[in-house]
Amino acid sequence: MRKYLFAGNWKMNKTLKEVEDYFDKFLKKLSEINLSDREIMIAPPFTSLAYCQSILKDKPLKLGAQNSCWEEKGAFTGEISPKMLKELGVEYVILGHSERRHIFGETNEIIARRVEGVYKFGLIPILCVGETLEERNKGKTLEVVETQLSEGLKAIKEIKENEPVIAYEPVWAIGTGITATPEQAEEVHLFIREKLKKLYSEEIAGKIRILYGGSVTPDNIKDLMKKPNIDGVLVGGASLDPEKFFKICSIKVEKE
Ligand code: 13P
Repeated sequence: MRKYLFAGNWKMNKTLKEVEDYFDKFLKKLSEINLSDREIMIAPPFTSLAYCQSILKDKPLKLGAQNSCWEEKGAFTGEISPKMLKELGVEYVILGHSERRHIFGETNEIIARRVEGVYKFGLIPILCVGETLEERNKGKTLEVVETQLSEGLKAIKEIKENEPVIAYEPVWAIGTGITATPEQAEEVHLFIREKLKKLYSEEIAGKIRILYGGSVTPDNIKDLMKKPNIDGVLVGGASLDPEKFFKICSIKVEKE
């Protein structure tokens, strides 16, 4: 069985003081979550990673980063390397997020290099894919997702362990309060799983976790998680509130 992954993407939010307050509350509750079937991960801004590493020592909470360069070091102003992230206890790296693609112009080519670099360093990339509203309305959802997926993974020819994670995040659902219905999400997740079988193998595709992201809340998490190919969630806004994120992470998963 795939271990569920409940991941929080804090984006560009929280000063160090706010991070302290958050963990004060969240860590008290963490012991109430049954972690036998799931992992919980938080990706704070780079500026609080060192603090998070110190406070999360011996805690069953995984640390993520929100981007990474592919090189170990060098003249890449403004970038952070996978080696630096590893040193800070980071295990997961979110890559190809729609905000990176649409606000900062990251292409499939750049994202593929990042995915490869991170994977080679033994970190787990979370490759985000998803269509805009316009693309959905034109019936292009699966085509867009297929391209982003195969282009983003193209440098990873073989997967032996540390399978990458895929996050399906429809752009129209991010930060809008409009969640994809569980059926809409499942359709794309199943499509991704089938595509992964062709790219790798049935066995590997069966191990890769596919997360849903886009306006996930404590109210809609249960129905989303019922779907067989939804293995977890990537939460933005609701992960900023320790109580809401706790509610999301602690739900009982009941598959259809
Ligand atoms: P929201 O949960 O705020 O819609 O953001 C989703 C997201 O982009 C997670 O990466």
